[in-house]
Amino acid sequence: FAEDGYRMWLRYEPVADQSLQQQYRKSLQQLVINTDDATLAIAKQELQAGISGLTGQAIPHSRQVSEHGALLVGTPQSSQDIANLKLDLSALGPEGFRIVSADIAGKRATIVAANSNKGALYGSFHFLRLLQTEQSINSLEISSAPSVQHRVVNHWDNLNRLVERGYAGLSLWDWGTLPAYKDNPRYRDYARINASLGINGTVINNVNADARILTDQFLEKAAALADVFRPYGIKLYLSVKFNSPMLLDGFETADPLDADVQKWWQARVKKVYEYIPDFGGFLVKANSEGQPGPQDFNRNHADGANMLAEALEPFGGIVFWRAFVYAPEQGDRFREAYDEFMPLDGTFKDNVIVQIKNGPIDFQPREPFSPLFGSLEKTNIALELQVTQEYFGFSYHLAYQGPLFTEALNADTYAKGEGSTVGKILAGEVFDYKQTGMAAVINPGNSRNWTSHPFVQSSWYAFGRLAWDVNLTSAAIGEEWLRQTFNNDTGFIESMQEIMAISREAGVNYRMPLGLTHLYAQGHHYGPAPWHDKSGRADWTAYYYHQATKDGVGFDRTASGSNAIEQYHSPLDQMYAKPESTPEDILLWFHHLGWDYKMGSGRTLWHELVYKYDTGVAQVEKMQATWESVKDFVDTERYQRVKALLKVQLRDAKHWRDACISYFQSVNGLPLPKGSPKPA
Ligand code: GCU
Repeated sequence: FAEDGYRMWLRYEPVADQSLQQQYRKSLQQLVINTDDATLAIAKQELQAGISGLTGQAIPHSRQVSEHGALLVGTPQSSQDIANLKLDLSALGPEGFRIVSADIAGKRATIVAANSNKGALYGSFHFLRLLQTEQSINSLEISSAPSVQHRVVNHWDNLNRLVERGYAGLSLWDWGTLPAYKDNPRYRDYARINASLGINGTVINNVNADARILTDQFLEKAAALADVFRPYGIKLYLSVKFNSPMLLDGFETADPLDADVQKWWQARVKKVYEYIPDFGGFLVKANSEGQPGPQDFNRNHADGANMLAEALEPFGGIVFWRAFVYAPEQGDRFREAYDEFMPLDGTFKDNVIVQIKNGPIDFQPREPFSPLFGSLEKTNIALELQVTQEYFGFSYHLAYQGPLFTEALNADTYAKGEGSTVGKILAGEVFDYKQTGMAAVINPGNSRNWTSHPFVQSSWYAFGRLAWDVNLTSAAIGEEWLRQTFNNDTGFIESMQEIMAISREAGVNYRMPLGLTHLYAQGHHYGPAPWHDKSGRADWTAYYYHQATKDGVGFDRTASGSNAIEQYHSPLDQMYAKPESTPEDILLWFHHLGWDYKMGSGRTLWHELVYKYDTGVAQVEKMQATWESVKDFVDTERYQRVKALLKVQLRDAKHWRDACISYFQSVNGLPLPKGSPKPA
């Protein structure tokens, strides 16, 4: 059949390098797994399918090492051979793994060892990754453990199967056929895809939650999905609506300090665990964008989160409580999460994790990091990213978000001096958190290739890899993904690395360079609408963000404006206080500057802006040319699809540029710099 992207990065096509092919065949004669555990049965299936696909040679299963070229997978508990090796597994924790080459009873072997079967499954996927990316497996000595405990994907799927900001078809969860048809192969493949990255949790429904998710009718269906995901090490979580007792059971209040409300939640949670014994917990969007929350009853976020946490605690469940809060009354949306959450630091229970969106306003193409990172010292935290390209051209634009994710993780908060990066904070190296997490809103739907644009897969991949290891680089991850998803040809990889590297910056340049933000048309978040629309909610219009007048442009967040910069640690607050010391790519985020402000390049701000918009368009043209140059290395279906989508992207990039420049020009009345293309 035509390659259509369904297999994502788990394609297991024959290894092209002949000498490696030989090496793999020799080293992989026998697969030894000595237990019938369901998780290791999955490892066995994956390794057998993967290795026979990659090497063209089947690998028979055995319970004992009896030949050279054994691949032994398990834990010291399940395998005497692994126990005898006395490998030090102490640094791996419950989910890490080691992959080593060693002799077992005189036979050459490769060992994938872990403290748990789940760790062994992750190690098996990693081993397959080595083969898929054509690495030698002769003298392996790999040790790996995840940076954060909770590595969770978030679905914004509604119960009617429409996906908020989904763009890849209807929801994967076919509620009508659940729980009867839980053997739907897509559920298993979905679990494989996630497990291959070490993702260990999934929130299956929209944060703008439907209270009915907690009814028996839906719990029974969710339980069927949880059954499928369990052996893959994936826990199921639900988004819940804070006023569920009112909506489902006619309560007059959902006050978290009301004893009857508390009892209602305790009873419901008990019910959830009857259906799903290893249920992960709740994700909650409260008092944000019209969602109900504790503030409706004059209580705060901690009151609300702790009430749910208490109900979940006896069963080991957790609450992800989102910090994405803002209301139209506030002068600066940027400030709000920090202003609401900082006074509550230290008052949340241990099984609450405050989930902080990147960035502080929304999933914009570029934002400075949320100052809650580095400031919430006594509250467990999670970083929330978005794979779904809500603000990045939906499923029509090519935008590898590895650079965006690593920019967020590598941002230095200076919380405890230089080097206190967001990544280190999440990894628990700066503050003493009980638990931390990383979450990503992903977009898969019933599109045959899951994500619609084939390259959205790369951002899902990048999220998973970074949640496992916050120190990986965007380029290394991009390369891994390309090798597995397309092929290992060096020329192809080099050309494609360029596309991967520039695609995010291109998207910033043609939409909102130099720290401009949120210039989208209201509602759909796809095309530009920078003009001053006075009809709607102010903080949902572009003018609120760019503040462009005849005199200048940008949002003043210094002391003369909203003073949001005070939320950052020193020296960032001083750095952002002056335009000269603010990085130019976030300049207009913090400053309102005259159109003739001199930029580092020597150009005026106005000319620089035009230059950036033009650069964005030129970068898409470059991406197009590069893609066309790799035609012979890509299967026809994916080649044609991406080629067609790049055309759409170029059209849109020009539209963005022309709309924004024309609008700003109508405000400032300045001529275009010499040599710039005339808006079409
Ligand atoms: C954005 C997005 C909404 C979403 C919200 C959230 O505002 O446009 O669709 O519900 O983020 O993260 O809660």
